[in-house]
Amino acid sequence: MSEQGQADAVPNPPEKKLRVMSGMRTTGELHIGHFFGAISNWLKLQQDYECFFGAMDWHAMTDQYKDPREMVQNTRLMVASWIAFGLDTQKNVIFVQSRVPEHLELFMIFANLTPMGWLERVNTWKDAEEELKLNDAYNLGRFAYPVLQTADIAIYRGALVPVGQDQVAHLEVSREIVRRFNYLYKAKLPEPKPLLTSTPMVTGLDGRKMSKSYKNGINLVEEEGVLKKQLLQMPTDPQRVRRDDKGNPEVCPVFALHKLFSTEATRTWVVEGCTTAGIGCADCKMALFNHINAFMEKPRARRKELLNDPDELDSIIATGCDRAREEAQKTLDIAKRAMRLRPK
Ligand code: TRP
Ligand code: SF4
Repeated sequence: MSEQGQADAVPNPPEKKLRVMSGMRTTGELHIGHFFGAISNWLKLQQDYECFFGAMDWHAMTDQYKDPREMVQNTRLMVASWIAFGLDTQKNVIFVQSRVPEHLELFMIFANLTPMGWLERVNTWKDAEEELKLNDAYNLGRFAYPVLQTADIAIYRGALVPVGQDQVAHLEVSREIVRRFNYLYKAKLPEPKPLLTSTPMVTGLDGRKMSKSYKNGINLVEEEGVLKKQLLQMPTDPQRVRRDDKGNPEVCPVFALHKLFSTEATRTWVVEGCTTAGIGCADCKMALFNHINAFMEKPRARRKELLNDPDELDSIIATGCDRAREEAQKTLDIAKRAMRLRPK
């Protein structure tokens, strides 16, 4: 350590590449919105960056604390899905938040230097007050959510954070917290920047935005039969009541999904067939089913393998957690030295 306790405070990561850090709450099965909103991004980032991806169970528990029994299995399901879709467990560090207790130590360090006002202003708190109260989730842990998220990132000295638009306000707080930490203790933790990539709006089974709370999601990994049934039951262009009514794909939620999954050729076929009543909605939905099913087929098989051998999966996860911890301990040590909480 240098005299001022800062020169080597934050060494650059080995390849001098910026580090990417991101995560998802362990709330249960992922839906295809998670794929287009995050996973597809992670798959690209893993090629060029050193990445840390966390299964955030403490964050999930801010509102699911009453019944955390499913947390372990939810974590397995989520991590297995990530791997099944191509997240590389060698290249990336994939870990579970609660198994790296250093997050919480750094959280406490940050909690002290975070003025209440910064958190009171965050829209996911301010605008959610009523709903949180109804769900018994108007609690200190939930209030401090952005502080823990900051610790998640800073504990790996993450610089780039791929997140959706809904997380930008949290990242703003993260930057302020890290800046204040650096200022107070003359440290050099990187200020995390959101990596916003344009993500398409993913339409749910009922035509609204796909969201867990609307229960209109298509699971990212779904059995063939269930998927087919769900798609066949989807609402279509309300003007197209009978088979010989012409339809407008642009107002049809089925077509919104074609845009994400189907080939150009299929989409042309749909537009042509729909607007001339040349095809029926069932034909259109079956074509969509074939495309989505093809997209899921390999990951579905791969995930089944992973889940069929929970010991092996748990050991993959444990290895990731060990790697994460090693890095987290390094950062915590750096932070404590900067704070003079530790003798040299
Ligand atoms: N709050 C994020 C979400 O709901 C999940 C999350 C927790 C996260 N910690 C993080 C994302 C750290 C990025 C970095 O999507
Ligand atoms: Fe929608 Fe397809 Fe039916 Fe047209 S044919 S209304 S795009 S389901």
